[in-house]
Amino acid sequence: MKTEYIHEPVMPREVLEGLALKADGVYLDGTLGEGGHSELILRREPRCRVIACEQDAAIAEVARMRLAEYGDRIHIHEVNFEELPNVLREEGVRRLDGILLDLGISSFHYEAGGRGFSFQRDEALDMRLGVTARLSAADVLRTYSEDELVRVFRDYGEERYAARIARAVVRQRADAALQRTQELASLITKNVPAQYAHGRIHPATRVFQALRIEVNRELDVLRNFLDGVLDLLLVGARLCVISFHSLEDRIVKQYMRGNEPHCVCPRGALRCTCGCPGKLRAVPRRAITADAEEVRKNPRARSARLRVAERIEA
Ligand SMILES: C[S@@+](CC[C@H](N)C(=O)[O-])C[C@H]1O[C@@H](n2cnc3c(N)ncnc32)[C@H](O)[C@@H]1O
Repeated sequence: MKTEYIHEPVMPREVLEGLALKADGVYLDGTLGEGGHSELILRREPRCRVIACEQDAAIAEVARMRLAEYGDRIHIHEVNFEELPNVLREEGVRRLDGILLDLGISSFHYEAGGRGFSFQRDEALDMRLGVTARLSAADVLRTYSEDELVRVFRDYGEERYAARIARAVVRQRADAALQRTQELASLITKNVPAQYAHGRIHPATRVFQALRIEVNRELDVLRNFLDGVLDLLLVGARLCVISFHSLEDRIVKQYMRGNEPHCVCPRGALRCTCGCPGKLRAVPRRAITADAEEVRKNPRARSARLRVAERIEA
């Protein structure tokens, strides 16, 4: 197993502050990856425990080796974090002292994943992270209608040339289905305006992101997870979510705002009698971003946004 792809955990100081660790707390790292954040937690509080989910068996193995020295203080489950209620049942834990999600994929996936996440390499267009993903990226490109492809590229990639690219994919597959990352990247480059094709970001960036989100149902998984998470947090527990694009960040922000205390008294009521229900308090209210020093050392941190909320008595 390659270990040279040790991923730098994003915003290490901010995550530890955000989680406000308790000495003997039990934490969920829902996106274990190479185990960078889990290791920070385990090191900072020598009596705390971490339950971790990772849907990709290959990277879970990297984390297992990295974290071996922490023994029974870390339990790794090779599942989607959507399965959290089952995981907690298995662990005999009812509620957690904190949860961290560091969404998306890791440098390992781009550099050593071999599953077509990067258009810089020539690999099969797979993009499945876990065993629950049914269709590969090549299957999506081969079987979705043109309209469905437009929806995926536009909604999940915010790709302004979604319609042109979808049309080109459909035209191409009448001859031969797209199988490789480089085939897709060059088809995109040929079918967008020259200015866009040679712009600041590679013209295939957004479509690759969109396919990955579709293949792994990333936004639905996040929504489902958030829907059930409040009852799994102890009062005072922190929920920390790092996202790397605005689609995820919007879901997290709306979720946190939607669960803040808010008045539900009838309009025009003379005084508030509802007790303002709400189970989360954002700390702070705005997203936290990496400082310039971290971005200089780890350019991936540039687009990271950390949102933190505390479970409150309701
Ligand atoms: C950005 S990396 C996490 C890196 C990690 N925090 C570290 O410091 O090493 C995200 C990881 O979460 C995993 N992942 C993404 N979505 C997941 C999900 N729904 N369930 C379980 N694992 C997931 C990915 O396979 C990837 O390994």
